[in-house]
Amino acid sequence: MKTIRFGIIGCGLMGREFASSAARWCHLNDMPARPEIVAICNRSDKPFAWFTSNFPSIKQTTNDYRELLANEEVDAVYIAVPHDQHEAIYTDAIKAGKHLMGEKPFGIDKAANEAITACAAEHPDVFVRCCSQMPFFPGVQKIGQIIESGELGQIIEVETGFLHSSDMNTDKAINWKRMIEFNGEYGVLGDLGMHACHVPFRAGWKPKNVRAILSNLVPTRPDGQGNTVPCETWDNGTLLCDMHDPATDATFPWTFKSFRIAPGEKNTWYVRILGTKTSVRFSTKNPKLLEVMKYDGSEQTWGQIDMGIDTAYPSITGGIFEFGFSDAIQQMWAAFLYELEHGKPITKFGGCVTLDEVALSHRLFTAALESQAQQSTVTV
Ligand SMILES: NC(=O)c1ccc[n+]([C@@H]2O[C@H](COP(=O)([O-])OP(=O)(O)OC[C@H]3O[C@@H](n4cnc5c(N)ncnc54)[C@H](O)[C@@H]3O)[C@@H](O)[C@H]2O)c1
Repeated sequence: MKTIRFGIIGCGLMGREFASSAARWCHLNDMPARPEIVAICNRSDKPFAWFTSNFPSIKQTTNDYRELLANEEVDAVYIAVPHDQHEAIYTDAIKAGKHLMGEKPFGIDKAANEAITACAAEHPDVFVRCCSQMPFFPGVQKIGQIIESGELGQIIEVETGFLHSSDMNTDKAINWKRMIEFNGEYGVLGDLGMHACHVPFRAGWKPKNVRAILSNLVPTRPDGQGNTVPCETWDNGTLLCDMHDPATDATFPWTFKSFRIAPGEKNTWYVRILGTKTSVRFSTKNPKLLEVMKYDGSEQTWGQIDMGIDTAYPSITGGIFEFGFSDAIQQMWAAFLYELEHGKPITKFGGCVTLDEVALSHRLFTAALESQAQQSTVTV
């Protein structure tokens, strides 16, 4: 099996998840390549001890990402840093010839995203994908197969969303994700929005227009030093779009929600599709459960499938066992390495988010900001 030597830039929450996935790569069967973490970069040294004590393969620790990008022992990078730095670090990584898995939103705004996309176009030998792991849950992979099979019939409506309650506590101190200069004007759309776009965009559906309702429910927060400061980012976003399916020329409504303040929801990602022949729904709230309703003229009955380990990329886990967040992360990394080696994903829905899909999300979120400002429907 080939080894791809990785550097991690930004050793926060998600950097550790990737490293942990790499550490149990033996979990996956039949992979053409495996990741090896050889270099890490973070603003402060604090996270280095966890990495270096668990990964003897790490030979470089640095606070300067340019040093990591200059390291010839690094083939690919995972970059998980605040949004204001995406453009500079992603474009420098691509120019350095490092394959890139970048975190969403892939640029703080549309202009930054366009700069990254243009840079990638100038370096076609560099493989670039955007992080989004939830569609790798087996129930969602199955929905992908149902979409591809045409079994849905005419699509009546699609709903997708990602709901958190991470900001319910109004006493929680502000951090970079709640500041426009670091997180961006998109607010929650930039933070959680790509997750809600992944499945509909992979299906090939394109939003024609958007009416957005964005809420800033908590306009001030403590700064952690005894003061109260403005908190100007959007907490919750609901988008209603006319969605177009170029394959059938059909148009149907798509409701998108990304909420940081959703009472009762810790980290709920969901998709619901109503079709004239088949309807499907899945939520990570009950991650084994896939519900399917087939309409054949008789009673309309939702069927419940207890999903096991029916993953895009085969693993050692027995088929009846449970799947979780860390498994979704590992499946996403399997998708990245598989496509890097084979030039295409194992299946349509078994691939990571592409630059075209990211660019579409930026057109949507930019139109959503305009819709909110004008209180009207805006063309995407
Ligand atoms: N895929 C997901 O589910 C998911 C979940 C959380 C965050 N994210 C994304 O990951 C990215 C980072 O978010 P996070 O929650 O990990 O943030 P975080 O604040 O936990 O971690 C960011 C890390 O980047 C480091 N950093 C900042 N600037 C740097 C620089 N110039 N060079 C090196 N290191 C630098 C910081 O020191 C920090 O350790 C964001 O784009 C966010 O949207 C994705």
